[in-house]
Amino acid sequence: MQLTAMRALVTGANGGIGAAIARALHGAGATVVLSGRRADALRPLAEALGARVVLADLSDRSAVTRCVDEAGPVDILVANAALPSSGPLLDFEPEQIDRALDVNLRAPIMMARAAARGMRERGRGHIVFISSVSGKVAAPGTSIYSATKFGLRGFALGLREDLHGTGVGVTTIFPGFIRDAGMFADTKVTLPRGVGTRTPEHVADAVLRAIRDDPAEITVAAFEQSLGALLAGISHPLVASIQRRFGGTAIAEQIAAAQARKR
Ligand SMILES: NC(=O)c1ccc[n+]([C@@H]2O[C@H](COP(=O)([O-])OP(=O)(O)OC[C@H]3O[C@@H](n4cnc5c(N)ncnc54)[C@H](OP(=O)(O)O)[C@@H]3O)[C@@H](O)[C@H]2O)c1
Repeated sequence: MQLTAMRALVTGANGGIGAAIARALHGAGATVVLSGRRADALRPLAEALGARVVLADLSDRSAVTRCVDEAGPVDILVANAALPSSGPLLDFEPEQIDRALDVNLRAPIMMARAAARGMRERGRGHIVFISSVSGKVAAPGTSIYSATKFGLRGFALGLREDLHGTGVGVTTIFPGFIRDAGMFADTKVTLPRGVGTRTPEHVADAVLRAIRDDPAEITVAAFEQSLGALLAGISHPLVASIQRRFGGTAIAEQIAAAQARKR
């Protein structure tokens, strides 16, 4: 696929999945603008791709639309940045909840609003939201994260309908457990036998497919997580009892402990 002459803005570009997405878009010929909140973390990738960097802390409301403005007219927006926000609700301070809602949900909404205006005028563009299987299945220790990721799903589906027929596509991607790099891999938690993983490159491939084919949703997850996501739409209690039976609570506690510093 040739994305030559297209400009793509990727948020959270220094993260495990964001970097893979940026590399894939660059490899497909797009001009990539990398966004993140730390210049030093973005520099190696920016140099490797010859990409411009726009610094923005997405928990700072004034920085969110400024990020899109500074990127210039974009044909592709990949709203990827997020906090893991894992753990039981009662372990969160109010400002940590606000930060999660701002970075994971409010920022993608406001950035999509800012980017979609120009895309609609030019009659072309694609907005990709990186949600999570936690945007379809609620598990222990994911109340805040799932609130943001389910929210992103509803927003994206509604936005897709708003933009139908304008030449601007909207796709949401739902990764399951991702190995090698990213917020789950960073925890070093070992998953129970039978729980599979995918790679950041699988998610990046899904982004390219989203832009090419404009599906509403793509799940990038091992079979049992994809099935769980499907079943959860029919019966949450069924999926919750399966999770409990296979040790979901203990795994959730280990992941939350390892991610607590990222709140
Ligand atoms: N990894 C998985 O297993 C998995 C599974 C399902 C969904 N996802 C989703 O995939 C996306 C990418 O996650 P990842 O695994 O690549 O995680 P990651 O390596 O932790 O990357 C997250 C990115 O978001 C950025 N970010 C966090 N807070 C920010 C803020 N206030 N302002 C601007 N940027 C901020 C991070 O910047 P800093 O480096 O400065 O913190 C980092 O670049 C997320 O939407 C995540 O929810 C991941």
